[in-house]
Amino acid sequence: MKASFASEFIFVLAWLHIGKLWYYDAMKGKFLLAPMSELSHRALRELIEDFGACDEYFSEMISAGALLGGGPFEAWYTDPLPRPEKLVYQLEGSDQDRIIRAAALLDRRDCAGIDINMGCAAPAIRRTGAGAAWMVSIDRAGELMAGLRKAVKKRLSVKLRIGFEEDFDYLLRFCRRLEEAGTELITLHPRTAREKFRRNARWDYTVRLRQELKIPVAGNGDIHDAEALRRRSAAGECDALMVGRGAVRAPWIFAQARALEAGKTPPPFNREETALRFLDLVSRYQPPEFHLSRARRFFAYYCDSLTWAHHVKTLLGRETELSGMARILAAYFREHPEERHRL
Ligand SMILES: Cc1cc2nc3c(=O)[nH]c(=O)nc-3n(C[C@H](O)[C@H](O)[C@H](O)COP(=O)(O)O)c2cc1C
Repeated sequence: MKASFASEFIFVLAWLHIGKLWYYDAMKGKFLLAPMSELSHRALRELIEDFGACDEYFSEMISAGALLGGGPFEAWYTDPLPRPEKLVYQLEGSDQDRIIRAAALLDRRDCAGIDINMGCAAPAIRRTGAGAAWMVSIDRAGELMAGLRKAVKKRLSVKLRIGFEEDFDYLLRFCRRLEEAGTELITLHPRTAREKFRRNARWDYTVRLRQELKIPVAGNGDIHDAEALRRRSAAGECDALMVGRGAVRAPWIFAQARALEAGKTPPPFNREETALRFLDLVSRYQPPEFHLSRARRFFAYYCDSLTWAHHVKTLLGRETELSGMARILAAYFREHPEERHRL
């Protein structure tokens, strides 16, 4: 009897270990779209999906309070298409109970996971105790994740920054507590909360964190083009790679990086067609109140590689209709046809 109990116990341990290795491997080499407020919504996902090769899409941050209160735009924030099974809902909030209840609601949907925003450095968010403010107290963050673990069955992850100071030991203690509480994936944007987007992302923090933690770590920050994504992926320094602004500038970035990895010809793209398709997608999948702000936010990055980027952005910024934006873009590419294929 004793022997069979022992063997069953060993079998369960082995099974759990294999399961963990499988999960670890399941994240390995994945490409993820970063959560970006006013950018990571259905229109951008549709555009990226046209080119393919993105493994998971993190949603823009969704306010836990607004979701529970039935805010007027929640249907758009939580639109899971075009690939619900690849979508990770990111929640933002400061109140533990509300975040847990909002996460439990989203957990019932078809999705890849629930992510908690502990990295947003915007003062308006931090002041409320949300975003990077969670990194001030290891105990508070650990309690939140332990509570979430009981309420959420899907993959539970956290996206964070280094913290408020350059202190790797603090970051590690913080992440270990999240790990103990049942967090299954951590994405690090390796800048401090005070730095916003200044200085270069400190990838050495990501690499060290990956070495120390048992759970997978996704690396994020300053991956600006497909070659940089391919290089990071080949280096294998972390489990998955997340791209934000680079995927807005070039929605084909993931497909191109996969082609480079395979030694194949990268898929073709046309900057004019992609820009016009984006405007069409915004008009179809965003509420009218969001049309202009979302289009301006997108083109603020998308137009970066154009020779007359500043001029085009100024014209687009003055425009009050999506159709007018389409005319400005069409005129630009008529005058500069060679830029239709500019990386
Ligand atoms: C316009 C904008 C909005 C962002 N919104 C969010 C957000 O909602 N949640 C979040 O965790 N990070 C947010 N971020 C940070 C990105 O997810 C990412 O960590 C950061 O842009 C660095 O990655 P990148 O260099 O690939 O852009 C935002 C970044 C930008 C530029």
